Amino acid sequence: MLSISISRREMLRLGLLGGAALLVPLERASAGMGVGHHRMRGGMMGDGQISSPGAVPFQVPLPIPPVLSPEDTDSANDYYPITMQETQVQILPGLMTTIWGYNGVFPGPTIRAKSGRPVVVRQTNYLPVGTSVHLHGGHVAPEMDGHPTDLIKPGAYKDYVYPNNQIASTLWYHDHALGITATNVYMGLAGFYLIEDDVEASLNLPNGNYDVPLAIQDRLFNPDGSFYYPPFTYATLMNGVLGDTVLVNGAVQPYFQVANRKYRFRILNGSNAREYELALSSGQSFVQIATEGGLLPEPVTRSTILVAPGERVEVIIDFSPYAMGSQVILKNLLGVGSTADVMRFDVVGEEEDTSSIPSSLRDVDILSLASATRDFRLSFDRMQGLWVINGNPFDPARIDATPRLGATEIWSFNNRSTMAHPMHIHNVMFQILDRNGVKPSPGEAGWKDTVRVGPRERVRVIAKFTDYTGIYVFHCHNLEHEDRMMMGQFQVV
Ligand code: C2O
Ligand code: CU
Ligand code: CU
Repeated sequence: MLSISISRREMLRLGLLGGAALLVPLERASAGMGVGHHRMRGGMMGDGQISSPGAVPFQVPLPIPPVLSPEDTDSANDYYPITMQETQVQILPGLMTTIWGYNGVFPGPTIRAKSGRPVVVRQTNYLPVGTSVHLHGGHVAPEMDGHPTDLIKPGAYKDYVYPNNQIASTLWYHDHALGITATNVYMGLAGFYLIEDDVEASLNLPNGNYDVPLAIQDRLFNPDGSFYYPPFTYATLMNGVLGDTVLVNGAVQPYFQVANRKYRFRILNGSNAREYELALSSGQSFVQIATEGGLLPEPVTRSTILVAPGERVEVIIDFSPYAMGSQVILKNLLGVGSTADVMRFDVVGEEEDTSSIPSSLRDVDILSLASATRDFRLSFDRMQGLWVINGNPFDPARIDATPRLGATEIWSFNNRSTMAHPMHIHNVMFQILDRNGVKPSPGEAGWKDTVRVGPRERVRVIAKFTDYTGIYVFHCHNLEHEDRMMMGQFQVV
């Protein structure tokens, strides 16, 4: 039987056994951060962070991750080979950063799949650690899901089969190896996987060059330009790892030149732990059109949007009201200093816009009549020094829930801690029933796979378990919480 990755020995090394060790003051904890800690600047201490070599915002254009074409295609499938490999890329001016990338790029290449048309991705691992590739939001067989213990050894490969029997939506793929997901993703192992279908295509939403994925991730850097992943301390255990440098599609706070027309942005919070509350510096609102699992029933106008790690939101921004030369900053209202700005839109082109935002987008069948309700209590276990669900750290030998195939269930996440936990369930899209008994806001009233459960909040979601029996995980998508065992398993029977 597999043993869980945080051993007693590791806990001793980290000084985590016994509650008292957890009370190490933040100053002492950050003193262990080694290289760069003397560079700490005022205002960042609260995050317990080093200060990365400063990159000036809005100096580089927004990169768009390359879209992969299938290497081969037959009557049954489209085939994509991807290699996980280490490469050097320039992220900070004049410095090189070692990344781990799918095909050596960060973020990884985008796959555009068609609903109903299966894709086979051959993932070859040229990295020095075992990896597991998870299609986040994918409705796939358990052996294709990238279970944390289903590792591709260095030098080996695995064929992942994705049936794409689901509606148009913005998914993403990322590493999921047990206990090292946070560092693997931090090194760059994440990319977009977009599913398209005819219903969405018929809506005349902005498409082609006007349909732009934005992966928002934060990082810390060493003075030599390498990624800095801080050692495990009380602060990183609680907050997760928070960077002081915001990247969009792998570039530091880029600018994006736009025409005076509508654009669709597929926003992914691909950060390990940081939440962003997005807003436009001009005061203009976003028109939200989708959540993780596809289009909302109707567009929702929102002045700010909170996105937790793992979540996706899709918005339309209409740049037609702006004069040529206008600059609109995508702000993070939760950020301070270097994390307050995400990127900038520069309105530089005049173009005709034939796209539209229909007043109704796509029906969402409301789930009801659940056959079971399951309660999950989210808390921190001081004795074990771990994040736990119903008092239990992750154990691949334990099953926490056994929904029947075809059943609809209500899962209630009851957060007893003072930290937010973005809870993610594999293999299903769910709907939010309520937050502390209150119906979700319209921007959350669609198909979701990750939901922010705020401090002391109780969130109930409803999901139907269809098509596949077998074992999947559910977990907190704060990746440091996940690696510190805030994960459980369900088995569809
Ligand atoms: Cu995005 Cu289980 O993960
Ligand atoms: Cu997932
Ligand atoms: Cu958490």
